Amino acid sequence: MKSVVIEQPNQLTLAERLLPQPAAGEVRVKVKLAGICGSDSHIYRGHNPFAKYPRVIGHELYGLIDAVGKDVSAERVGERVVVDPVISCGHCYPCSVGKPNVCNELVVLGVHRDGGFSEYATVPARNAWAVPAAIPDENAVMIEPFTIAANVTSQVNPTEKDIALIYGAGPMGLTTLQVLKNVYNVQQVIVADRIEERLAMAQRNGADWVINNSQQPLAEALAEKGIKPTLIVDAACHPSILQEAIALASPAARIVIMGFSSEPSQIIQQGITGKELSIFSSRLNAGKFPVVIDWLARTLIDPTKLVTHKFDYQHVTDAIELFEKDQRHCCKVLLTFN
Ligand code: NAI
Ligand code: MN
Ligand code: ZN
Repeated sequence: MKSVVIEQPNQLTLAERLLPQPAAGEVRVKVKLAGICGSDSHIYRGHNPFAKYPRVIGHELYGLIDAVGKDVSAERVGERVVVDPVISCGHCYPCSVGKPNVCNELVVLGVHRDGGFSEYATVPARNAWAVPAAIPDENAVMIEPFTIAANVTSQVNPTEKDIALIYGAGPMGLTTLQVLKNVYNVQQVIVADRIEERLAMAQRNGADWVINNSQQPLAEALAEKGIKPTLIVDAACHPSILQEAIALASPAARIVIMGFSSEPSQIIQQGITGKELSIFSSRLNAGKFPVVIDWLARTLIDPTKLVTHKFDYQHVTDAIELFEKDQRHCCKVLLTFN
């Protein structure tokens, strides 16, 4: 079989590898579609401190089970599945409090272990979630990015009364936007970005108001309308954003960060305590696959609004380069297999 292997930073090969056999408790997935994510590019470019090389990248995958290991029902062969990339031990402290996404022995598919940019991938059977027949393939492959938004929003109990502000209209901001609007019915969701085309995507994804904060400072734009956001999600993840969000937030607001910057964020405690803000972080997803599958089955969310490009996996290098260079026209880029 062919696999997309990052041999070392900046060296991608389409390698011929032995067809993997599923171990006990595993299934083998014949991959049909996979999504390119910023983290795949980071591993490719050597910017992910957790990555070990060589590595088959890819953690957003959809396909069909074509073989099962010991202790897995043979009836699963042929099942359409999406794969939760979070592999956890199940018994450490974070696992015991419902946060397998930060398990002490966390293994992330496509980061710590070979992932889904491959004709076949073996994964733990319990990570392979059946996709109902009513959900098309191209929606199924988008489940993982929406699980991130499901995790972000589940931290803060959004309500209809919230005035939400999302920084960043990339895949993370847009999935969060759809979830806030369509699942939680938040009346007002504002999206800030610096790229007009991305803001246009935010409008198509349901934003009530978009702000280009390279043209006008956010504080000014919000003050003109007398708006103090009650819920802020930082899906742009520059270290300077947290303090700005603290300053813009309404008293009693909640802020969610999801960035991995190693640069310090300078924050002022008075701004947090004075308004008794709650600051949350969110990493990957904690058991959100069934949640998002249910949203899709009920057509609450529409992943097709994020997909801009599709490439045959043999053109993966072109696909990643376009994804990296052209944020104006690219949002989610999919790879097709066979
Ligand atoms: P992306 O790069 O496609 O989107 C980021 C957007 O933010 C871009 O459109 C950019 O123009 C905009 N932006 C940058 N600086 C801004 C600023 N100061 N104000 C307003 N907008 C600004 O990235 P994607 O895939 O949407 O991911 C966003 C972030 O989320 C990344 O930093 C990524 O590392 C992080 N992430 C975190 C995850 C988690 O589980 N915690 C999972 C996936 C991504
Ligand atoms: Mn992803
Ligand atoms: Zn654990």
